[in-house]
Amino acid sequence: MSSHGAPIPMMSRKGGALSGVADVPGDKSVSHRALIFGAMAVGETKITGLLEGQDVLDTAKAMQALGADVIQHGPGAWSVHGVGVGGFAEPDQVIDCGNSGTGVRLIMGAVATHPISVTFTGDASLNKRPMGRVTDPLALFGAQSVGRSGGRLPLTLVGAETPVPVRYTTPMPSAQVKSAVLLAGLNTPGDTVVIEAEATRDHTERMLAGFGATITTEETEEGRVITLTGQPELTPQTIAVPRDPSSAAFPVCAALIVEGSDVLVPGIGLNPTRAGLYTTLREMGADLTYENERLEGGEPVADLRARFSDKMQGIDVPPERAPSMIDEYPILSVVAAFSHGKTVMRGVKELRVKESDRIDAMARGLEAMGVTVEEDEDTLIVHGMGPGGVPGGGMAATHLDHRIAMSFMCLGMASQTPARIDDGGAIATSFPIFEALMTGLGAQVERVAS
Ligand code: S3P
Repeated sequence: MSSHGAPIPMMSRKGGALSGVADVPGDKSVSHRALIFGAMAVGETKITGLLEGQDVLDTAKAMQALGADVIQHGPGAWSVHGVGVGGFAEPDQVIDCGNSGTGVRLIMGAVATHPISVTFTGDASLNKRPMGRVTDPLALFGAQSVGRSGGRLPLTLVGAETPVPVRYTTPMPSAQVKSAVLLAGLNTPGDTVVIEAEATRDHTERMLAGFGATITTEETEEGRVITLTGQPELTPQTIAVPRDPSSAAFPVCAALIVEGSDVLVPGIGLNPTRAGLYTTLREMGADLTYENERLEGGEPVADLRARFSDKMQGIDVPPERAPSMIDEYPILSVVAAFSHGKTVMRGVKELRVKESDRIDAMARGLEAMGVTVEEDEDTLIVHGMGPGGVPGGGMAATHLDHRIAMSFMCLGMASQTPARIDDGGAIATSFPIFEALMTGLGAQVERVAS
């Protein structure tokens, strides 16, 4: 099943070279946060370049249900009239976050220190994912929750009436957990402190500072210590959402593996907490250049130019790089299949609790396409078959996971025979224009009858 309807089986096949300009949509992480922080400011936040994927639309609906006014003015142009920190009202209905772990975990954090009860649910993928990683620290603020076994959704969160500040060390590298704690800290008197051993994406910290909160980050021996002073008045902002490096990964990687390709992907955010894939690809020998490097809204941005290369070599991806490319391992493993030698991805067990178990989904799918893989709990190894060497011809199960679906559609653009997926419906959660954009570059990707 797709996340919001009947399954959409798809197929991609080898055609000519990919060429042209790929305008990818807005960043998903930044889009969720722009809506949530906008809803917690007093007055009107204006957003351009918002990703209009289903995940973000579900967050917009949730903000509306909590009392903010969220209005679409045109493509990507939205405004949020916020209720202020502490101003959320109890929603009349269950909040359905669809496929989005980021949406549900950040919103749980935001409501946990309001004296309201909120029931959350999601699709079949989200309802399998662990929520204890968020409800455990939220309990320290005084919030209570009851979910299904393992703390899974559907789950009701009863917010703390008199929240107490928390000092919390995240047990796994997770920007969602860090952000949930910081969001809970907003309506809590005193300083909330989050400590993370490894740096994860820092959009929450940057945006909170932009909205006028007092927030500091210190690098210490324990790791990054982030301190937020509670109960600020957040000032509405004008936010231009940068283009998503995680979505850019698909046209970039497709261009690297499809013979003769040359694709420009403009305006991609290269925040170091997000850019690990691009570092890895360059280490593998990819013909990938950064053009027109600049700063936009305080973030490093570049136009990415990717050209086919027959010289890419598998590498050992350093495990400490995992947080900065956590969503990109599926598409990296496709590039690895078309490279020479083996690519070893260690320290990736967090992939097992994404929209699907991504180690398992990629391993089974790659095997179905004729690629040899090895895996253990925390590792994925792909044995490269060289440019043009991947047989393809199989069907990959996508398990409601957009990135698995897009990864195999990219594989089929370069494999000897077409690749199929059982359901591409989830692609709309993060990259609704994927098919049109890839087709525009010359790719052959289509929906097929089930
Ligand atoms: C996200 C954090 C990451 C990432 C997800 C988006 C965010 O999840 O996988 O797609 O916007 O904070 P974790 O924090 O669970 O690693």
